[in-house]
Parts: sequence; C-alpha cells; structure tokens
Amino acid sequence: MSEPRIRMAGFAGSLRAGSFNRAMLRAAREHAPDGVDLDILDLTDVPIYNGDVEAAGDPEPVTRLKAAVHGADLVLIATPEYNFGVPAVTKNAIDWASRPPRPHAWDGKPVAVMGTSPGRFGTVNAQRVVRQSLTHLNAYVLPQPMIVIPGASGLFDDDLRLVDPPTIERMTKFMAAAAGWARRFLGPGGAE
Ligand SMILES: Cc1cc2nc3c(=O)[nH]c(=O)nc-3n(C[C@H](O)[C@H](O)[C@H](O)COP(=O)(O)O)c2cc1C
Repeated sequence: MSEPRIRMAGFAGSLRAGSFNRAMLRAAREHAPDGVDLDILDLTDVPIYNGDVEAAGDPEPVTRLKAAVHGADLVLIATPEYNFGVPAVTKNAIDWASRPPRPHAWDGKPVAVMGTSPGRFGTVNAQRVVRQSLTHLNAYVLPQPMIVIPGASGLFDDDLRLVDPPTIERMTKFMAAAAGWARRFLGPGGAE
C-alpha cells in the first residue's frame, strides 16, 4: 500500500518581497521528498493581534491562517531573527492560531522550524524562542535536525533560488526528517 501524501503548510515571518526566509520555504518545497505537498501561506493581510478585533469576529486572513494550520499534517515555520528575538510577523501568526475555537490549531500539531539570516548566527536565538512558544502550546516540534542557516545573502541566485550545494543538501535532509516527523503523527489511514 502506498504511503499517504503529507500536506504541509508553511509561512515565513517576513513580509518583504525579497525575504530570504520565504525563499527558504520555496527551497524546502523544491527539495521535499516525493509525497509531500507544501502550501506557502501569505501573511501580508493578517492584522496585529487585537482582542477587540477578535471579539468582533476573526478577519478573513486570520480565518484562513487558522484553517491552514488546523488542516496541515505539519506546519513549517521559516523565521527571521530580529534583535536576538522573534520578529512580530512570526509571533503574530503563532498567537492568532493559538486562539479559539478550542482545541486551538497548534494543539498536537507537528511543526518544523527553520530560519536564515545574512549574519553569522542564522536565527538560532529566534528559533529557540519559537520552539519555546510552540512547546507551551502543545505542538510537537521536530527536535533534530535543526536548520540554522547563516550567510543568507550568498546562498541564492538573482531570482532568490537556493543554489548553494551544501545548503541544498542540508535542506533535503531536513525536509526528509520533517516528512518522517509528520508521518509519525498520522493515523494508520493517513490524514483524518
Ligand atoms: C529590526 C531588525 C533586527 C535584526 N536583528 C537581527 C538579529 O538579531 N540577528 C540576525 O541574525 N539578523 C538580524 N537582522 C537582520 C535580518 O536577519 C535580515 O534583515 C533578514 O534578511 C530578515 O529576514 P528576511 O530576509 O526573511 O526578511 C535584523 C533585521 C532587522 C530589520
């Protein structure tokens, strides 16, 4: 019997058109193993969390975000690092998706975290904090391999396609591990 397909949803914690982290998500899709579909979400119109906005009813981009997280077999988060911490865009998406209806979308959700930055530390600080929030939310975060990618500006061509062979190799291994992690949480018949 063939294995069920894995449906991943991914988002980058950056809104800029030339985002290296969104480019990494595209590379993740390109180098994912057979049987994996990765839908890249657009967070541009997700407002900053505000309890008053929520009380009036989730805006449509928030409804879409929650549904995408709920429906995915694994969520792939590509986060930049700002000031040794988590950029607002990443945290805002995590926060909205942690809200009702209960159980919230992160509860029991397999997640894999990655990130890249032009500097030397490659988002290690941001990823640590993202993992902490997700663990608090009872998400199941892929423990290893971590994929912390420094020197982002030297890894892509002019079209922001990942072209650095060692990074492609790491990405391929990471995506194989993420797919294996997602499969651990699927029921015997695949996605519910
Ligand atoms: C406010 C701000 C703070 C930053 N702080 C860090 C940092 O602490 N560590 C780091 O590696 N890069 C830092 N950077 C650089 C980002 O890694 C870089 O802008 C990166 O390209 C952002 O991700 P993106 O390409 O996906 O938009 C910072 C950038 C900004 C705008």
